[in-house]
Amino acid sequence: MQIIRATDYYRMSRMAANIISAQVIIKPDCVLGLATGSTPIGTYEQLIRWYDKGDLDFSGVTSINLDEYKGLSPDNDQSYRYFMNEHLFKHINIKPENTYVPNGLEMDSEKACASYNEIIARCGGIDLQLLGLGHNGHIGFNEPGEAFEKETHCVDLAQSTIDANARFFASMDLVPRQAYTMGIKTIMQARKIVVVVSGESKAQIVREAFFGPCTPQVPASVLQLHNNVTLVGDEAALSLIP
Ligand code: GLP
Repeated sequence: MQIIRATDYYRMSRMAANIISAQVIIKPDCVLGLATGSTPIGTYEQLIRWYDKGDLDFSGVTSINLDEYKGLSPDNDQSYRYFMNEHLFKHINIKPENTYVPNGLEMDSEKACASYNEIIARCGGIDLQLLGLGHNGHIGFNEPGEAFEKETHCVDLAQSTIDANARFFASMDLVPRQAYTMGIKTIMQARKIVVVVSGESKAQIVREAFFGPCTPQVPASVLQLHNNVTLVGDEAALSLIP
């Protein structure tokens, strides 16, 4: 694993965006695995700035997002499809038909997940997967205890994740309880993985995930077994690592 230390969130975002840009330049028809959450927003902003300058071309790129809430429509402002449109897709020249997010409106979980696995296979797998890190060590929506061998599947969100998400919804009843997520197996099949972490609140889980035992209780710890992982963090998030 490579660790890139940045002094602050802005620089961390630039570093991560640099790695993604390099991927797009080296392989203009690459498949990017993308993530939501607050951490990657700065990375997307930087990619947009470089696109605006004419330094990046996303016309050949395909994107496959990690996860989506089950039951939320693309125009719900809390859906991950909406998030991706707002924070990245509508600002760059990626073809909308080449952007994939699990279908939150498909209530048949097996169907939703099988068709997502097919999409990933049809695209030839993921060249570079961007990941954030949940406070309990989740990646995508693979919560603690999730088996490492799963592909895209439907998960019951951990109470701590539901509580963390509650701030975005008008009432607790509206917070989704389930989500579709790429599984750990899918994530581990990506050829390169970039994890972005920021802030003091992530310091403890960064230490556990990357320097503790590899266990399903800390889903991100499986990344220690991947041969091409880059952890990009700011000082605060990396403050507790040896
Ligand atoms: C959600 C997403 C994850 C993301 C996590 C952390 O749970 N499903 O993919 O990594 O949030 O979010 P944040 O970056 O806001 O801490």
